Amino acid sequence: MPSTVLVGAQWGDEGKGKITDLIAGDYDYVVRFQGGNNAGHTVIHGDKELALHLMPSGVMYEHAVPVIGNGVVVDPGVLVKEMAMLEAEGIPCGNLKISCDAHVIMPYHKDLDGADEKWLGSQQIGTTKRGIGPCYQDKMGRKGIRIQDLLDEKIFRLKLEHVLAQKNPILERIYGLHTYTVDEICEEYLPFSRILKPYMAETAQLLNDALRSGKNILFEGAQGTLLDIDHGTYPYVTSSSCCAGGAATGTGVGPTRIDRVLGIQKAYVTRVGGGPFPTELVFEEDGGSGQDAIDGETLCRVGHEFGVTTGRKRRCGWFDAVIGRYAGEVNGLTDVALTKLDVLSAFDTIKVCVAYECEGKRYDYFPMQQSVLFHARPIYEELPGWKDVDITGCRTYEELPANTRAYVEYIEEATGVPTSIISVGPDRDQTLFRRR
Ligand code: IMP
Repeated sequence: MPSTVLVGAQWGDEGKGKITDLIAGDYDYVVRFQGGNNAGHTVIHGDKELALHLMPSGVMYEHAVPVIGNGVVVDPGVLVKEMAMLEAEGIPCGNLKISCDAHVIMPYHKDLDGADEKWLGSQQIGTTKRGIGPCYQDKMGRKGIRIQDLLDEKIFRLKLEHVLAQKNPILERIYGLHTYTVDEICEEYLPFSRILKPYMAETAQLLNDALRSGKNILFEGAQGTLLDIDHGTYPYVTSSSCCAGGAATGTGVGPTRIDRVLGIQKAYVTRVGGGPFPTELVFEEDGGSGQDAIDGETLCRVGHEFGVTTGRKRRCGWFDAVIGRYAGEVNGLTDVALTKLDVLSAFDTIKVCVAYECEGKRYDYFPMQQSVLFHARPIYEELPGWKDVDITGCRTYEELPANTRAYVEYIEEATGVPTSIISVGPDRDQTLFRRR
C-alpha cells in the first residue's frame, strides 16, 4: 500500500507502537501528523526497551525517513533529548525531517496546562501536563510560535514579546504563577533551534514528491479516535485530530492520496484520564465492587495497563462494539489490528458490549449527547472463553482455539470492520497476519 494511515480505534494505548514497529519497515516515510510528546510507546532495540514520545517510529529503520508533520506540536527540549538518547543507543537520527509549520510548545504552555487542570477541579481532564492543549489553543488563536520562527531571532523575539504581554498577566494574576521574560525564553530555546535547523524541511512538498516517485508512506497516529478533538468524548479528549482525517491536514497530503486506514483496537478497552467509559470495570479503589472490580483488576494486571508517559494505572473494561462501529465510520477504517488477545485467556467467559441502554432507550450507535454516554449501561453478549489455553505461541489464525476465532469473528461482525492482524503477545513474532 503506497500510503497507510494507522489510527487508534479507542482511547489510545491500543498497542499502536507494536503494530507500527511491525509494519514500518514496509514504508519509506513514517510520519507523525498530530499530538506531541503526550504520546508514548516503547520500541525494542536489541535487549533494551526505548520509550519514544515525539520521534516517529521510522527512526528505528535505517532506510526510512521519520517526519514530524505540521499538525504536531513540538517541545524542542524533549525532541533534542530524545534524539540524543537514540544516538547514544546507536540509532542515527540524521534522516529526520521537521515541518517548519509545526507549532512549538513553550514553557508557559506547560504551566498553563497544569494550572488549567487545577482550575477544573473535579472536572479535570487528566492531561499529561505536557502543554499540548495550551499550545493548540494558541495555534487556533493565531498566536502560536512555529518551528520556522526559531530560525529568525528577530521574529522570535517580536512574537514572544507580543505573546508574553498577554500570557504573563494570566500566569501571574489568574494563577499566581511566575512570569517569563523574552530573554530567558530565548536563552533556553535558541540553542535548540541551532540543533534542529538541519532537520527543518518543507515536509508537505517532500511527502507529495515521495508519493509521486512511488514511495510508501505510513502516517503514524497518536492517541485514539475517542480522544479526537471533534469525534472524541469532548471535553475529555486531547486537543488534536487523532482520527484519520488528521493525517491529511496534519501533513499536507490530500485525502485522495491515502489508500488504507488501519485501525488499532485492543481486544478489550482501556482509558487514562477522566471522562465517560461505558464498559469500565471500576477498580475497588475507585469505588467498584464484586466481579466487575475483579475482572477490571485482572485486565489491568494481565495486560500490564500502566501509562508509558505517566505511569498511571489505566481504567479497564470489556470490548465495546458501539465504539468499534463508530471508529470504523469516522475513520473510514479499511481493516483493524486486534491487539492483546492473549490477555483474555484469563477469563472463563468474555463480554462484548453490543449497544447501550439509557433511560429505557437502546442506543446501537454512538449517542449524540455526551450525557447519554455518561449514564449509558452496556448491553452485553457473553461469549465462551478459552481460559488457560496459552495462545501466545500461535502463529496462524487457524492455530487459535475455536472459541478465540469465534470471538474475533463476533467482533468483526459487530463492528463491520475486518481484522487483518492479530497480536497474541508483546514480541514481534507473536503476531498473526491475515493480510499484510
Ligand atoms: P493531553 O493530550 O495531555 O492534553 O491529555 C488529554 C487527554 O488525553 C487525557 O485524558 C490524557 O490522559 C489523554 N491522552 C493523551 N495522550 C495519550 C496517549 O498517548 N494515550 C492515552 N491517552 C492519552
